[in-house]
Amino acid sequence: MQSLIILGRQPKIGLAELESLYGGSKLRLVGEQATLLDIEPSQIEFNRLGGMVKFAKVLTVLDTASWKELESYLAKTIPKHLDHLPDGKLRLGLSVYDIEVSANEINKTGLRLKKIVQKSERSVRIVPNNEKALNAASVLHNKLTSQLGWELVVVKDEKQTILAQSIAVQDIEAYTLRDRSRPKRDMKVGMLPPKLAQIIINLAAGEAEPAGKNCAEPQSKNKAVLDPFCGTGVILQEAALMGYNAYGSDIEPRMVEHTKANMDWLGETFSHPPFSYLVEEGDAIKHQWDKSFDFVASEVYLGRAFSTTPKVEDLKQTLSDVNTIIKKFLKNLSVQTKSGFRLTLGLPAWKNSGGFTHLPILASLEELGYNRVSFVHASGDDLIYHREGQIVGRELVTLIRK
Ligand SMILES: C[S@@+](CC[C@H](N)C(=O)[O-])C[C@H]1O[C@@H](n2cnc3c(N)ncnc32)[C@H](O)[C@@H]1O
Repeated sequence: MQSLIILGRQPKIGLAELESLYGGSKLRLVGEQATLLDIEPSQIEFNRLGGMVKFAKVLTVLDTASWKELESYLAKTIPKHLDHLPDGKLRLGLSVYDIEVSANEINKTGLRLKKIVQKSERSVRIVPNNEKALNAASVLHNKLTSQLGWELVVVKDEKQTILAQSIAVQDIEAYTLRDRSRPKRDMKVGMLPPKLAQIIINLAAGEAEPAGKNCAEPQSKNKAVLDPFCGTGVILQEAALMGYNAYGSDIEPRMVEHTKANMDWLGETFSHPPFSYLVEEGDAIKHQWDKSFDFVASEVYLGRAFSTTPKVEDLKQTLSDVNTIIKKFLKNLSVQTKSGFRLTLGLPAWKNSGGFTHLPILASLEELGYNRVSFVHASGDDLIYHREGQIVGRELVTLIRK
């Protein structure tokens, strides 16, 4: 195993995303938050992954999970690596997962390592730990993934410890810029976070082979993504940044205009691989998509945007409305696609006291002509993207046309 990934807030969603792109047999979960990935770091396009926080290359595996022993190992090993680094002040950070040690003790270890590095006549700044692991903002701010930076990621793996070095962390600033600076945003259709858009695209892009097959990362070149409920175009924007051609439609002319404005802004503002886009007006339950597309990735119509627990009859009404639209859309799509066609939809799932209320069509997908993709590393219920206090979550459902 060559790469180590620290997963995001809902780790199972990140696992499904990786499984979709690389195959289930390439992954091994380590503790609750990390996964090993049997893919060379240079082959991983970290910036397109939405469900991950950190990406590191594995340096070694140690036969201990005791912090004292790990500290001794670092004290012995770090000086040997100093010669390979360019001149200048080093910045060192420690991020520890699942090992029994407090942030305070990690800070003390940091100070001991600082003295050892200074003995080799190098100056070093140790990034202090408020928690056991540094967050992505701190890694970015302290430039720990640049040449003179060093974030050591230390993860307990049963009786052993994986020692890895961060190569990249989630680029929070770039996500915020893409999210907030778009010329057209619309509270009414909701705000799809760009990283959730990436997750939906990656789940849809995965090869349709069973998990375990040696899947290389899908090639985005010359492939097109269709979003038939494109709204303000977040999915299409993220797809374009990944190098896909973007094809969208929406029933509302205003949304079509919004998406066009956002896509033009994207083209002018960001460096990206060449992409083309097309957006048209169309009702997803009967529209004919004339341009070719390779897969569908969409956050569909979610119904009423409840901000407090809805009345039973209101929920019933919205559930029925959305269910009818999605059922008709799936029928319409099935006559325009071939067997094996893959799609991922973000469908609404409503939080209740006991769990979630799901869309009824999930129980009759086979009759509609689709098989639901199951993941080795995540169950269906794990794949509901949801934040504390939200009523409407997004259930991420990946389907293959029979
Ligand atoms: C939740 S929003 C999608 C938001 C979108 N992911 C974005 O990035 O802004 C759902 C969109 O579905 C559209 N819609 C509703 N019913 C539709 C239908 N029958 N056919 C096509 N679009 C529809 C709405 O106009 C709305 O823009």
